[in-house]
Amino acid sequence: MKKIGVFTSGGDAPGMNAGIRAITRTAIAKNVEIVGIIGGYSGIVDKKFQALNLRSVANIIQRGGTFLKTGRCLEFHKSDVRKLAIDNLRQEGIEGLVCVGGDGSFRGAHLLWQEHQFPITGIPGTIDNDIMGTDNTIGFDTAVNTALDAIDRVRDTAASHDRLFIVEVMGRNAGLIAAHVGVAGGAEIVFAPDLVTTVDQAVEKIKAGQAKGKSSSILVAAEGQKPGRSYDLAEQIRKKSGLDAKVCILGHIQRGGTPTAIDRILASRLGAAATEGLLNGEKDIMYGVQGEQIAKVPFEFATSQVKATPKDLMQLTSILAN
Ligand code: F6P
Repeated sequence: MKKIGVFTSGGDAPGMNAGIRAITRTAIAKNVEIVGIIGGYSGIVDKKFQALNLRSVANIIQRGGTFLKTGRCLEFHKSDVRKLAIDNLRQEGIEGLVCVGGDGSFRGAHLLWQEHQFPITGIPGTIDNDIMGTDNTIGFDTAVNTALDAIDRVRDTAASHDRLFIVEVMGRNAGLIAAHVGVAGGAEIVFAPDLVTTVDQAVEKIKAGQAKGKSSSILVAAEGQKPGRSYDLAEQIRKKSGLDAKVCILGHIQRGGTPTAIDRILASRLGAAATEGLLNGEKDIMYGVQGEQIAKVPFEFATSQVKATPKDLMQLTSILAN
């Protein structure tokens, strides 16, 4: 290959810029031209191509967000739009792509291979950590630490006022952020989208804590399909028990900010591997991490299901909140 492209797609995640930097500089080190595509899949459709050089990616490793911009391109569900995208890429002389994104992005990439034999490799960039075949996604560690910082602050005020708080974290379908901050933040109980935790269980846990002398409690809830659901939870808790729960919704704060060292290193390793892989003839493959090793994961497997919330962490939260 003489010329490849890089793009970010789906929800942004801290560390995406570090990934773009690694992809760009690896391509250039192999004497391959690299083009940045602005705004994800819609940038391919609208021909928003920008040549990248070593300096284009200078001073971005520490920046959150993605300088190539991102988006969720619903148009890409249409096969004629995908065909147009491929025509645009071929006209531009782009022979392969590296995609930084989540499950929707990888489904699009898989279709481009299936329908048009266009080679794409990818690296998982999403705060949700919901991609199969990789222990971690780029942005997850930063998001967990951001949520944790907020929980620590909420705990100060909860303790000062002897209050119950529900802290709502991101995760439409996935409970991994919730499960991790539950343990690390010392929560009483966690609500995850794929596991049933009832209001009765939560009330029982809070009351048991109070009986042992606890005066404040933190519950963590993943937003699930309904951001703001914690207000309903608080109302249900009040109706069942008379307890007054304050609600704190962290929202998009979790998507921004300086990436942690873990996310920068993960993005750098995976970005370099996915670029080398593409140039060596790999396609339809995500590069993830399993233990210390970089793993090649077919897009189809990576997106086959949402990674489950780890039950052991949920149990640990409950046992340790005593
Ligand atoms: O990036 C993943 C995610 O943050 C989910 O946890 C969340 O439900 C969703 O994106 C929100 O996306 P958006 O802000 O793009 O609507």
